[in-house]
Amino acid sequence: MIKFFRHHLGVKLFFSYLAVILVGALVLGLATRFTLPEAFNSHLGLGMGLGNGQGMTLAPALRFGASAGVQGTGPGRTAVVDLFNSFQASFNEALLLALVAAGVVAILVSLLLSRGVVAPVRILTTASQRIADGHYGERVQSKGSDELGQLANSFNQMAEKLEQVESMRRQLIGDVSHELRTPLTAIKGSMEGLMDGVLLASPETYQQIHQEADRLAHLVDDLQELSRVEAGAYPLDIRPVVVSRLIQTTFKGFAGQAQSKGIELSGEISAELPVFLVDEDRITQVLTNLVGNALQYTPRGGQVTISSRRQGNEIHISVADTGIGIPAESLPHLFTRFYRVDKSRSRQAGGGSGIGLTIARHLVEAHGGRIWVESAGEAQGSTFTFSIPITK
Ligand SMILES: Nc1ncnc2c1ncn2[C@@H]1O[C@H](COP(=O)(O)OP(=O)(O)O)[C@@H](O)[C@H]1O
Ligand SMILES: [Mg+2]
Repeated sequence: MIKFFRHHLGVKLFFSYLAVILVGALVLGLATRFTLPEAFNSHLGLGMGLGNGQGMTLAPALRFGASAGVQGTGPGRTAVVDLFNSFQASFNEALLLALVAAGVVAILVSLLLSRGVVAPVRILTTASQRIADGHYGERVQSKGSDELGQLANSFNQMAEKLEQVESMRRQLIGDVSHELRTPLTAIKGSMEGLMDGVLLASPETYQQIHQEADRLAHLVDDLQELSRVEAGAYPLDIRPVVVSRLIQTTFKGFAGQAQSKGIELSGEISAELPVFLVDEDRITQVLTNLVGNALQYTPRGGQVTISSRRQGNEIHISVADTGIGIPAESLPHLFTRFYRVDKSRSRQAGGGSGIGLTIARHLVEAHGGRIWVESAGEAQGSTFTFSIPITK
């Protein structure tokens, strides 16, 4: 019985309503017991012409319910006491009936109300159990704006987030397995060719296998870095950094590569650039990524320009190239992980797995900035820009 009581919110609510009704009835009964004689006295005692002080002494006599031993006896007085007793009896009877009626109504109302509370809670319990079983599409209808309605709303928000995380997780596993499969298949194919004697054991074959293994190693490194930046699991070592020095460092790092690819690499640094507060290594990583891409996707004879300027309260750093450009429909997806404009082209061009720009976006956003790309279309070159707020 106690267990049943403990485990059912509806029963608890019902009994608490019942307790309120009983306490109310008790208070009502006690209150009328004390106030009724006074009220009777003032309404009837004086009205009946019981003057010369009798009306004043009637009240205590009635309160104690005795007529004997009280001063001022007489037929008039006995009649009033009798009248009072009859009045009190009929009053009590009416009160009892009213209480029973009120009790019945209150029980019905309390049953309805407790159902109104218990039913949504039951729905939420069922829905959360379904989510726990892996049905992430489960939602509840939220009615009203009271606490239960708010609870249903937050429940739906939580379910939405869980569904997103789950679908991202599935997609990530799919993408990663796909990315791992390509170089693995190539390595396996070459090894089989070697074993069957179809492929010559030439330095080129070994070179090819080594290249694929290298791609695998790169992919694993990128994935590790991606998971770190996506989880925000890296410390930012924020210090004042001179913008021009940061650009020059990157510039120097790529000079050799640009020269060997026959690409003109230049830098435009606006003179009045202030010092900004960033993690130098992380911003260099972003810049390295952008310049690396620009050199990668620009054919021989092209140009790559790094420039920086102040724009209001931000510093904008751009990497522009005269390379293969980006079709308009690809522009919104470029910073999504594993996205490549043309997978085969990117692979032939020595491209990676489409993680670099995603990492760059996370790093820039960790500094409170934004990163975006502009391109007039294929073969029209592209410009990648990121902004970093000056005041933090
Ligand atoms: N400068 C650029 N010019 C043209 N396309 C670019 C450029 N930078 C990036 N892209 C496109 O964006 C895709 C994603 O870039 P990124 O995330 O660095 O991956 P990847 O490892 O393939 O370089 C690239 O595959 C390429 O298609
Ligand atoms: Mg890249």
